[in-house]
Amino acid sequence: MAEETVYDRLKREGISRRDFMKACGLLAGAMGMAQIPSVEASDLARKGSESRLRSSEDAARIVARALETKPVSLVPVIWLELQDCAGCTESITRSHAPTLVNLVLDLIALNYQETLFAAAGYQAEEAKQAAMKKYAGKYVLVVEGSIPDDGIYCTIGGRSALDLLQEAASGAAAVIATGNCAAFGGLPKAKPNPTRAKGVWEIIKDKPVINIPGCPAIPEVFSGTIANLLIFGAPPALDALHRPVAFYGRTIHDRCLRRSFYEAGKFALSFDDEGAREGYCLYKLGCKGPTTYNNCATMKWDAGLSFPIQSGHPCLGCSQPDFWDGGGFYQGQSVPLNSPGIGVAVAAAGIGLAAGAGIAVANRAQKKAAAAEGPEPAADKEA
Ligand code: SF4
Ligand code: F3S
Repeated sequence: MAEETVYDRLKREGISRRDFMKACGLLAGAMGMAQIPSVEASDLARKGSESRLRSSEDAARIVARALETKPVSLVPVIWLELQDCAGCTESITRSHAPTLVNLVLDLIALNYQETLFAAAGYQAEEAKQAAMKKYAGKYVLVVEGSIPDDGIYCTIGGRSALDLLQEAASGAAAVIATGNCAAFGGLPKAKPNPTRAKGVWEIIKDKPVINIPGCPAIPEVFSGTIANLLIFGAPPALDALHRPVAFYGRTIHDRCLRRSFYEAGKFALSFDDEGAREGYCLYKLGCKGPTTYNNCATMKWDAGLSFPIQSGHPCLGCSQPDFWDGGGFYQGQSVPLNSPGIGVAVAAAGIGLAAGAGIAVANRAQKKAAAAEGPEPAADKEA
């Protein structure tokens, strides 16, 4: 007898074809399939026959086709919390779009998660060992928190974080590093990095490692990435820092609601000046939006309610490596990149040609820093 597919099961549970297609559209949106360039999208949809995606309907159809053939089988997940604050767990359990999250969660079996687990101590550790044995080579390992590499600063059940990570990763099919700590070391890695903290991908080299950075990670980005793994059985297209292109392919600045003020050279100079009240660009208050790759400006937080810049706070660059050491969160940046408005700003400030020379030097330095931080900022070229 043929195995029951996800679609068969949903049908059996009374889900109509129309609702199924609606859910597929939601999933495709959550996986960022309809908003990324066609070349990455076609890579994402490895199992589909389309070579190019043209619309959200196309993306929904690819997801539908995958679910119509995917047998119902729970994907085991083991979730390690190492040098962390549990903020990413908090964030993910507050994900909006419950229908979507339920759909994804119905397809995974969370075999070990310290914060959410009812069990504790030996019982919890035994459950993890049993799951790793039973699902060897099949489970997805999720890691939250950085890893001190000397084996003494973070221990669980008498074993070092490094040891626990290496053991769990050895039997995993793929590893998801959620949050800036697990991806790039985060706060624990800030200078002088007393625990010699590292991100997962600096340690695990023989498994696919997907980074979902942020402080914390955006919950829908996490569930969208898990959905991609479950539905297509493969990681999504990743950038040079192992982040899904669908969510990290463009800068915050590229889609920022304050962008028109940036272009016009209108900047808030303090948090309570007239510019701040008018919603001007926060670049001079330290905004790292131009060099930060994340989806906050479109996906936002708290059911799409807002994100830091909308609420009047500069982007801190929390999805980039080493953002704690990136030159001061509120240190005004006097040099907007490639902004036509800068001429206005400079003239208004009466700075003149000498400042122009400084701008060129700082511009080069920023571009160099951006290049060192991540992929070529395509959005800035388009702007
Ligand atoms: Fe938005 Fe920051 Fe860019 Fe200004 S610098 S437009 S506040 S992302
Ligand atoms: Fe982080 Fe900047 Fe978004 S600080 S939450 S990447 S707006």
